[in-house]
Amino acid sequence: MKIGILTSGGDCPGLNAVIRGVVLKGTTAYDIEFVGIRDGWRGVVDADFFPLTRHEVKGLSKVGGTILGTSRTNPYEGPRGGSENIAKTLARHGIDGIIAIGGEGTLAAANRLYNDGINVLGVPKTIDNDLRATDYSFGFDTAVNIATEAMDRLRTTGDSHQRCMVAEVMGRHVGWIALHSGMAAGAHVICIPEVPMSIDEICELVSRAHDRGRAPMVVVSEGFTLKGMEEAYSDKGLDAFNRPRLGGISEVLAPEIERITGIETRATVLGHIQRGGSPSGFDRVLATRLGLQAADAVVDGAWGQMVAMRGTAIVRVPFAEALGELNTVPLPRYEEAAALFG
Ligand code: F6P
Repeated sequence: MKIGILTSGGDCPGLNAVIRGVVLKGTTAYDIEFVGIRDGWRGVVDADFFPLTRHEVKGLSKVGGTILGTSRTNPYEGPRGGSENIAKTLARHGIDGIIAIGGEGTLAAANRLYNDGINVLGVPKTIDNDLRATDYSFGFDTAVNIATEAMDRLRTTGDSHQRCMVAEVMGRHVGWIALHSGMAAGAHVICIPEVPMSIDEICELVSRAHDRGRAPMVVVSEGFTLKGMEEAYSDKGLDAFNRPRLGGISEVLAPEIERITGIETRATVLGHIQRGGSPSGFDRVLATRLGLQAADAVVDGAWGQMVAMRGTAIVRVPFAEALGELNTVPLPRYEEAAALFG
């Protein structure tokens, strides 16, 4: 059996650990031959493959990024795209199936290809933790750790100057990174997309913390909307999937907080730092386990499914069940954190 592996969409810590897990189990237990596919679906369309052996994956579980490269290419676009062309390309190279490691967009493309007769299996990845079929996605824990450490640093400089510090984290339309890092760092306000707030509500909490002698710490998720705002703040145009590129809401909030409360305020956008570097121990283990189970799923012919974490178990979930609705922060989880605000 010959299987191609690709990583697609935004990178995230743990991708290499998945690749290593798949290749180690697949080659030793099942004698599968693997090829790496360069730059996500772009490599499928362009037949950009290379042999992937134990040698290529050695020592990879701690390495950030992806040795395969990634892109946000849509496999149905371009003259060589589309399921018929892709089926021919795979047949020509003797590739029996693809393991696609990616987020919502990648898995949607994988599902479409599967429905068009191509053997595809998914492994969910995203720092945003927004896929509902898996309790946690690898990359999330690392992003939370990076954001928490950054906030600890912001708090010491904020304390020294008695300033309000606003830290903006990623997450697109879900607030998991903000909720977890904000709670871990002891934020006085956490603003997430699931719960719009008014600027006055935010300022009330900021002033309350300040009145107790604290330097207020506000954590805001990039997809947060102030009450009355129709869409998340975006001034950077669209990405390859025509989605608005988010980021910058903290720069909107900071001057408003300063104006209303009279407290000197600074904004910091953490940005792609959250996606870079070495995965946490938790993410290395989760990613490796998903990789091992993906190799098992290939042998079982479990195409059209993705491996996912439910509780502490790794299970298989059909693509159709995994896609569509986002894994948003449930209100009780937000209320739990809100008990510590102000
Ligand atoms: O989905 C992961 C993510 O990091 C989001 O949190 C963020 O909005 C987006 O990707 C950034 O994408 P890009 O790397 O294309 O700027």
